[in-house]
Amino acid sequence: MTGLTLPRVLIPESKIKQRIQDLATEITFDYRGKELTVICVLKGSFIFFADLIRQIDLPISCEFMGVSSYGNKTASSGEVKMTLDMTEPLNGKHVIIVEDIVDTGLTMQYLVNNLKARKPASLKICSMLVKPESLKCDVEIDYVGFKLGKEFVVGYGLDHAGRFRQLPYIGIVENEH
Ligand code: PRP
Repeated sequence: MTGLTLPRVLIPESKIKQRIQDLATEITFDYRGKELTVICVLKGSFIFFADLIRQIDLPISCEFMGVSSYGNKTASSGEVKMTLDMTEPLNGKHVIIVEDIVDTGLTMQYLVNNLKARKPASLKICSMLVKPESLKCDVEIDYVGFKLGKEFVVGYGLDHAGRFRQLPYIGIVENEH
């Protein structure tokens, strides 16, 4: 990361780890006796997804979907594109969508509508971050890591123009120019 100012720490790695353990315990309890299909929404959720599923004590199938709405901007374009679809049918399965962040909620609304049409037995949402003040539609997030204000965050899977996804913490970009 030579030549770049590192983002200021908003949520440190230790806090993320602890919260993920709590979420995984809750999910394990809620789905006891069942098999679970977890969907990783690329790109942003790949790190959260990998950490979360390793703490869930259930039989799990992993699926991957790609959606994109932001391009290189810091505000949602409002237009959601599917860039990758999953390979297995969801019919009759217990499904959790795993996201890094729900901001306007438009991506999640698109995903829920798309996945409900595939007739899963149940469909829930887990997002590491949620921005309640930025929501532009009605989406209910069943498992929330942390609630944020309107700040633009990066790290732990989240990018700014493709950068910072590998940071182990969630941070705020300062002195960008
Ligand atoms: C981010 C994030 C969510 C979405 C949330 O993805 O991963 O999918 O935006 O924003 P919304 O609630 O306003 O719709 P992005 O489109 O930046 O793609 P990426 O995950 O590939 O970085």
